[in-house]
Amino acid sequence: MLKKKYNVLDLFCGCGGLSKGFEMAGYNILLGVDFNEPALRTYAYNHHGSKTLCGDLSAPDTFKHIDKLVEGNVIDVIIGGPPCQGFSLTGPRQFDDERNKLYLAMIETVRRYKPKAFLIENVPGMATLYKGEVRDEIIRRFTSMGYSVSNQILCSADYGVPQIRKRLVFVGLLNSKEIFQFPEPYLKPDEYITCEQAIGDLPSLEHTLGSDVSEYEMEPQTEYQKLMRGSCNVLHNHKSIDHKQFVKDTIALVPDGGNYKDLPPGVGESRIFHMAWTRYCSYKPSRTIDTGHRNNFHYKWNRCPTVRECARLQSFPDDFVFLGNKGQQDKQVGNAVPCLMAKAIGVELLKYLK
Ligand SMILES: C[S@@+](CC[C@H](N)C(=O)[O-])C[C@H]1O[C@@H](n2cnc3c(N)ncnc32)[C@H](O)[C@@H]1O
Repeated sequence: MLKKKYNVLDLFCGCGGLSKGFEMAGYNILLGVDFNEPALRTYAYNHHGSKTLCGDLSAPDTFKHIDKLVEGNVIDVIIGGPPCQGFSLTGPRQFDDERNKLYLAMIETVRRYKPKAFLIENVPGMATLYKGEVRDEIIRRFTSMGYSVSNQILCSADYGVPQIRKRLVFVGLLNSKEIFQFPEPYLKPDEYITCEQAIGDLPSLEHTLGSDVSEYEMEPQTEYQKLMRGSCNVLHNHKSIDHKQFVKDTIALVPDGGNYKDLPPGVGESRIFHMAWTRYCSYKPSRTIDTGHRNNFHYKWNRCPTVRECARLQSFPDDFVFLGNKGQQDKQVGNAVPCLMAKAIGVELLKYLK
């Protein structure tokens, strides 16, 4: 018998880390919506069965376009990570402030389609913003629409992602006496996947800058590397920045896991702040992958990690190809929800949908 696939609408989908994880968990992704054109091109390239809409989710017209694109389908789950920059709450009723429109877009879509469940992902700081009032108001709004809402700060490394990335996640279930229980960690801290286990098989690029499409130079060395490669036999997005010689010479002096504090006096002083000249640590998961400043370096090679290395640390499989220029690709990877963390939540949610 064919298993039912639950239909998903992904708002603020970016390149689709969250969608990819839900797809891995067995969902059918109907539509991804975002206003960033390069991210959406990546999304479309990697989610073959899904539609995309390039639209501003703070504009009411966008909802009409979504209506048309999903017409005739039941939307079972709505997922999304609305940005919360500039979030404002100046009084008990100020949630409807203009600046909070992106959160309101999430609420409006859930009101419109009444999915069986929704998921919202955000930075952990959202939990304590305005002494927790924002989080409480989000819970109140969805509760009044008939959802039982749970929220928790999750750490991606607990679910097999080689990265310490913490995210606040809300999950709501419609007309349910149950409250969603987040998945228990799959790994203990001493079992976390390390940087070396994640990217140690990728070419060093010591004598070349690499290219958009290249070849693996060795067999996968770890279970994680095998998992990421799957049946992929070409290497995408493994291209180095052409660093200035002084950058290469300076980072060469920083040991595995070290930073600017390990440099001799007078060296690298053009960058002195807590993140400067940081090398990833080969025997730990990486720190949070960001949208691409040039202060984090490979644990072994004298260069920044490539887009593919960052994608590995975000648990994107190797056949997930990033489009756009280098800056756009960095942003797509750094903004994403790690696929394996999204998958873990998606798998858990299936138990409630059934
Ligand atoms: C944190 S990222 C989402 C990442 C995504 N969930 C993933 O896992 O790959 C937030 C996204 O919101 C999009 N965005 C911000 N404001 C928007 C708006 N007004 N309308 C549509 N998309 C918007 C950005 O372009 C960005 O891709």
